[in-house]
Amino acid sequence: MNILDIEEVLGEFLSYSRVKHSITVACISFRLALFHKVDIRKAFIAGLLHDIGKEIKIKDYSKYGIKIDRNLTDFGENISHGVFGKKLAEKFFKIKDDIILKAISSHTIGSADMTIFDKIIFVSDLLDPKNNFEGIENIRKEAFLDINEAAMMSFEFVFQYLISSRKAICPISIKSWNSLIKS
Ligand SMILES: [Fe+2]
Ligand SMILES: [Fe+2]
Repeated sequence: MNILDIEEVLGEFLSYSRVKHSITVACISFRLALFHKVDIRKAFIAGLLHDIGKEIKIKDYSKYGIKIDRNLTDFGENISHGVFGKKLAEKFFKIKDDIILKAISSHTIGSADMTIFDKIIFVSDLLDPKNNFEGIENIRKEAFLDINEAAMMSFEFVFQYLISSRKAICPISIKSWNSLIKS
């Protein structure tokens, strides 16, 4: 499926505001990909599709013929929509590219082997201008300097939010953090 076709179909899965968010993330991902010399077309597509599974409830995953491990669904849609979205992208958008698919699946919780491409999509998601938490401008600047540091700053923000709101942290996110600090 080409980029224009993807943009058209997004609205069948997402609300208007999330389509806007997805296009914004695609544009930020594109700019970061250009800067960090990774594939700009793939980055735009991964940005467009990163939240494709976000508005579908876990109880409805089976309607799409998709099954997701309990170790993810136990943490709710906010976590599981990454891996679910990857499967939707494969099945309904015919995306076969592993680089795009891995970035979609890992944009919620990271992975133990995040590539520059994965980090770009992960960080871009947070950098939507409608987010205005304290410190976001530092992450925005760092993203164009050191994408690994920007990914760590993004995890720091997510972990702080989860801890202060007394929410569980998915063990995969902790593995991602442990691998980021070594890279
Ligand atoms: Fe998401
Ligand atoms: Fe998002």
